[in-house]
Amino acid sequence: MSNPVPPAINAATRLCAVYGRPIAHSASPAMHNAAFAALGLNWRYLAFEVDPKNLRAAIAGARAMRFAGLNLTVPHKLLAVDMVDALDESAKNWGAVNTIKFQGGEAIGFNTDAAAVVTALRDDLGVEIRGARVLLLGAGGAGRTTALKLASEHVAELFLVNRTQSKAEEIAAEIQKQFPAVQVSTAYPKGEVDLVLNATSLGLKHGDPSPLDENQFSLKQAGAVYDMIYRPAETSLLKAAKTSGCRTANGLGMLLHQGAKAFEIWTGQPAPLAVMRRALEENVYGK
Ligand code: ATR
Repeated sequence: MSNPVPPAINAATRLCAVYGRPIAHSASPAMHNAAFAALGLNWRYLAFEVDPKNLRAAIAGARAMRFAGLNLTVPHKLLAVDMVDALDESAKNWGAVNTIKFQGGEAIGFNTDAAAVVTALRDDLGVEIRGARVLLLGAGGAGRTTALKLASEHVAELFLVNRTQSKAEEIAAEIQKQFPAVQVSTAYPKGEVDLVLNATSLGLKHGDPSPLDENQFSLKQAGAVYDMIYRPAETSLLKAAKTSGCRTANGLGMLLHQGAKAFEIWTGQPAPLAVMRRALEENVYGK
């Protein structure tokens, strides 16, 4: 199927962009431009490498030029919290901004990352977080947001495992305080879990080992395994999970759903999910 041709760029073209550093491998322009074209919108999405010290000026510049919106990626998401005029509940909750909408001369900050985890788990793996038992690997930035999001979605039991144990313990303490109904521990589970979720960066580099210690937990005891990494498409964790008969998915769905939500915030229209997923797959995997 040939891709729809977007309306020609002219003075009425609305602009969105992603700021990050590095930015060269961002798949967001492919995803959003395909979505704009599919809906016949005269919109375009660009990518800019922005130094953190210029982030405030870059956001102000986009506002002055009447951009429709921005995405922010590493290392800007925390910095931007203090650079917008107002924060949506989502950005307040997670203390990070990955989406800005310019409206009435104001920059409003949103966070579409946290909700995307839950949508991707449901869509790609059929996992419902409410009442689930989950082993979460990783307690960095992504691990922390994910752990708190799962707790807020009424996960039944959460096992937090991290190389640096103290970071897992800090998050566990935060969950115990904020969500006392959730059973949280910082060791590998005994018995079965519904989901193993990798939020570490182990697997990004060629030859990385699995983040899971299979001497402590067998994948035969997991219903499903989600790896937030999407490049490479199959990490050693996902390979082992498939061999053990688990349902598996990689992090492309998270990228898709955070983008789809941003698209809806900017345009007010439902995101064309199938078009966006296909554009991502083409861009990331060349297929
Ligand atoms: P992000 O924002 O992507 O979460 P991060 O905050 O740097 O990035 O977190 C990286 C995560 O991967 C952490 O959980 C980290 O473990 P530590 O907290 O012990 O540093 C984990 N990680 C990175 N390299 C690792 C390795 N070689 N072995 C095990 N865990 C690793």
